[in-house]
Amino acid sequence: MVSIAVMGHGVVGSGVVEILLTHKQKLFSRLGEEIYVKKVLDLREFPDSPIADRFTKNFDEIINDLEIRVVVEVMGGLNPSYDYVKRCLKAGKSVVTSNKELVAAHGAELLEIARQENVNFLFEASVGGGIPIIRPMNQCLVANNVDEIAGILNGTTNFILTKMIEDGMQFEDALKLAQDLGFAERNPAADIEGHDACRKICILASLAFGKHVYPDAVHTEGITNITLEDVKFAEKFNCVIKLIGRVKRLPDGKIDIITAPMLVPEKSQLANIDYEFNGIMVRGDCTGDVVFYGKGAGKLPTASAVCADIVDSCMHLKRRRFLYWTDGDGSNIIDVNDSVFKMYLRVNGENAAQKAEEIFGKITAIQDVKRCAILTDAMTLSEFREKCDKLAAQGVEILSTIRIGEL
Ligand code: HSE
Repeated sequence: MVSIAVMGHGVVGSGVVEILLTHKQKLFSRLGEEIYVKKVLDLREFPDSPIADRFTKNFDEIINDLEIRVVVEVMGGLNPSYDYVKRCLKAGKSVVTSNKELVAAHGAELLEIARQENVNFLFEASVGGGIPIIRPMNQCLVANNVDEIAGILNGTTNFILTKMIEDGMQFEDALKLAQDLGFAERNPAADIEGHDACRKICILASLAFGKHVYPDAVHTEGITNITLEDVKFAEKFNCVIKLIGRVKRLPDGKIDIITAPMLVPEKSQLANIDYEFNGIMVRGDCTGDVVFYGKGAGKLPTASAVCADIVDSCMHLKRRRFLYWTDGDGSNIIDVNDSVFKMYLRVNGENAAQKAEEIFGKITAIQDVKRCAILTDAMTLSEFREKCDKLAAQGVEILSTIRIGEL
């Protein structure tokens, strides 16, 4: 029997306990031992839980219990998660987490502590919910140099955008629905402003390129400025708008990383990933494109990935699974102003398309009753901004600009 503790009994934590109880026999046959949830840490009461007697509000009961070999952190946020996880690792306990904020902020440090203590720090559920992505990238794709990763990494925003695209729903109504369905983060700003997706592409970039990428170093835009008008124009260009986390390896070895809404061509595999589903394309130099697809949020999908890590940790007590990257200082990341994209603009003004053509060169334009939408050729962000300034100086109002993801 391996004793574990679960810190947090929210959406994911309760799902973990549920799977460990409902799939007890299945997991026993895989591990050859019972996984026993000895403690559950939460400040709230859960009198109806089948393991109500094992709840505690006191972290000391976990850290000081020598029988507890694996600790599951599903509280979310950094405080007190960071402190608790660090102390658990230093106490020689393996840690499994779904907490992308924690991994994106402190992954390199926690992996290093795990290495020193010869325990495991596993976080499959931190990216893509129920989709296997960390382990496949770390094991199955290990013979590749990763050239690019692009993903729809946030279920809440993908749900909102799908509702806007398919049902013409307003942003706020779709967000409320996503929250009611339990996809959204405690603070929905992390979803809609792109921080959650950014954390996830940072984790994947750290894993793929071996150096920690901190979210602060990544240009991040959310979907709060996306309007139904943009959604409709995108459709006319045979595209859909998706929030994309993307990292690309450049010929000089640096990386170009961004989180932003993008117009994705309808023929792209990522264009057809809807609702709370996530999709991640990994382009390896040997494999070509490999696409991972599934539920990126929600109770049981995320808990399923956590449970797989629990089993792995229980199987490898005091033996490390190779999962590691070193700290990073951002010097391998190019400035966002040097990043190259084709662009979409929605503008308003007399002869807007003609003026845009004079400034941007070759464009594709669609003129609606009042508005004009334009697609440009590829250019750096700084060049694009200069040209937008020139267009504005000619009396054309720029209402929105969105990158085009050639995915
Ligand atoms: N709020 C996140 C999402 C949950 O919507 O994808 C999973 O990380």
